Amino acid sequence: MDESALFKLTHGLYVLGAAEKGGRLCGSVVDAVMQVANKPLVIALSCHNNSYTKSVIEQSGVFSLSVLCKNVAPFVVANFGFQSSRNVNKWDNVDYELKDGLPYLKQNLAEIRAKVLQRIVYDSNTLFLAEVIDSRNTDCGEPLTYNNYRDYFKNDVIKSFNDYKQQKEKEKEMAENTEKKWVCTVCEYVYDGDVPFEELPDDYVCPVCGVGKDMFEQR
Ligand SMILES: Cc1cc2nc3c(=O)[nH]c(=O)nc-3n(C[C@H](O)[C@H](O)[C@H](O)COP(=O)(O)O)c2cc1C
Repeated sequence: MDESALFKLTHGLYVLGAAEKGGRLCGSVVDAVMQVANKPLVIALSCHNNSYTKSVIEQSGVFSLSVLCKNVAPFVVANFGFQSSRNVNKWDNVDYELKDGLPYLKQNLAEIRAKVLQRIVYDSNTLFLAEVIDSRNTDCGEPLTYNNYRDYFKNDVIKSFNDYKQQKEKEKEMAENTEKKWVCTVCEYVYDGDVPFEELPDDYVCPVCGVGKDMFEQR
């Protein structure tokens, strides 16, 4: 069997949104969405079983979809597709609007709100059959497809995620450095001068107990 044959089935790309009971928002990128009935208007959504958003939809029974357009920023896909809402408040990293408690990207082609009718659990995925209860056609641009993602978009998405990670690391490092104080290990005097401790002359001594610079440590 050649599983790459399945790549010939065309999909779009969407940002899925859901809200926990207390209002915390979560979301992920999905491609496995399609309309499966007209009356009622039913769509199918398939989520990986380890998706946090999936577990929230199981609780809330509703979700939102923002249809992505071709000129979406690569970081939007990285943000929602490369990290889990378990650890990150992904919606804080993008421009979004809350409508009836569910989040939508500000830049999208269409918005769909759906209510779960049925759930089928496979080893790898959970399939939701859901009725569309609200929808808006917001823009007439071109939809981004999963094939576009594989053909030319993926590298930009990976790059934007690496840049974001690096920026986060830098911010963490700076926060750690600014929070840490130099403390005299002999008398517990906390250095609070204007000159950074590292730039003090080698003969600097503790103003309280008189020991040298080497007796200070960062805490
Ligand atoms: C291009 C692309 C398509 C994806 N399609 C799906 C999908 O159809 N269903 C799914 O559950 N996850 C899909 N994912 C993976 C999820 O977006 C990813 O596992 C995400 O981190 C889950 O986040 P969560 O734990 O906050 O739900 C896709 C990811 C990418 C980058």
